[in-house]
Amino acid sequence: MAKAQLSYACQSCGSSYRKWSGRCDACGEWNSIAEERTALSSVPKGLGHKRGNVIELVTLKSEARDVPRFASGIQEFDRVSGGGLVPGSAVLIGGDPGIGKSTLLLQVLGGLATQSGGCLYISGEEAADQVRMRARRLGYADADMHLATATNVRNILTTLDAGPPPRVVVIDSIQTLYVDSLDSAPGTVAQVRTSAHELVSYAKRKGVAMLIVGHVTKDGQIAGPRVLEHMVDTVLYFEGDRGHQFRILRAVKNRYGGVDEIGVFEMTGKGLMEVSNPSSLFLTDRQTPVAGSAVFAGLEGSRPVLVEIQALVAPTPAANPRRAVVGWDSGRLAMVLAVLDARCGLGLSGADVYLNVAGGLRIGDPAADLAAAAALVSSHLDRPLPEGTVLFGEISLAGEVRPVAQADARLKEAAKLGFTRALIPAGSKNIDSPMEIATFEKLQDLVDLLSGR
Ligand code: TYD
Ligand code: MG
Repeated sequence: MAKAQLSYACQSCGSSYRKWSGRCDACGEWNSIAEERTALSSVPKGLGHKRGNVIELVTLKSEARDVPRFASGIQEFDRVSGGGLVPGSAVLIGGDPGIGKSTLLLQVLGGLATQSGGCLYISGEEAADQVRMRARRLGYADADMHLATATNVRNILTTLDAGPPPRVVVIDSIQTLYVDSLDSAPGTVAQVRTSAHELVSYAKRKGVAMLIVGHVTKDGQIAGPRVLEHMVDTVLYFEGDRGHQFRILRAVKNRYGGVDEIGVFEMTGKGLMEVSNPSSLFLTDRQTPVAGSAVFAGLEGSRPVLVEIQALVAPTPAANPRRAVVGWDSGRLAMVLAVLDARCGLGLSGADVYLNVAGGLRIGDPAADLAAAAALVSSHLDRPLPEGTVLFGEISLAGEVRPVAQADARLKEAAKLGFTRALIPAGSKNIDSPMEIATFEKLQDLVDLLSGR
């Protein structure tokens, strides 16, 4: 017999525990463990002797069908999703509350609905009137789209099963939905998982493209989108800095396309606008070079993006100098500082160090090491880098500069934007560029160059 038992689950990663604790051992999140009442059946039994059904086996040579796709016409979204939504697939869109997930999906759905109907927007957070008003303001007054406000998954599935299946359904957001057969409150791991499972199974069964919104939560009151990542085909994160206008859509998992693609948008009074030349956002248009600034020729997915990295190195008498970094990994900064200290004898350990990626972008590309090091050295020496310079390259603990992927694409983008010099790792492959190129084997060479030795 099933008996209700008290258990505890991390609302960030879904790990379950017998006892409450302040920190989740699995994901390291603090205060994310909450009580959940789940029905635990007694010891699971083996399969016994009853035979099941025979599964059909196919070979690799079986006829492959091309997946059809629904493109929304919003190119930044279509590219990140791998060329459009695939029927029967589930896409999770995670992001902080208020970042613009509802706006993005309304625009995507509006684009799809304008081409051909069959689009349904189910909101558990806003009244249908609110959504309608927003859709009108975004310019989709005539789109063939249905709206609903609902939170009960049973009612949603009954409604969906009653008519012909739509092409695309948006669920905004998964944390507001609940399955009435479970005791726990909406937003708990059990509810979020069960609701998503029901919706994803419906999508697969009927060949509907399902877009699910999941709020990223910091305090563990409701389950975050990470507990769903394994269930869906595609996981997109919508991120950005509240203080900045632009937003980045990033694919972190995609069964129907590449990951690490980004789409760049700008939040305006008329909704999200596509930014097709993102480098223009992340570079400051400055006439004269300043010390402590370096331009990194980066790669976001398949797309080269130029960003400015700014550093400030200021000597301090404090015993524990400050290390503050925005837009880059702090562990990576510590490593570059240690290499500059140990291999190049720069003596930065007694200085406050601030590093900032301009425009609010978050860089994950390891090729940013060299540009970050150049910004730090330039600030430390109070000497600007030569005008029109870009850099890229990974730094090893031994102080070597290592080649990185797609040097050619990075240089092409830099040349296109009017840069004339590139400082890059020795051994970079396939470079054919009109720019003046200097290659480095060791970080020391860069320090020598910047200090005029
Ligand atoms: P929203 O899509 O509701 O965020 P989420 O669904 O991720 O919680 O967007 C919220 C913010 O976007 C809100 O603060 C207002 C702003 N916004 C604009 O600046 N312009 C617009 O046209 C719209 C629709 C929203
Ligand atoms: Mg919303």
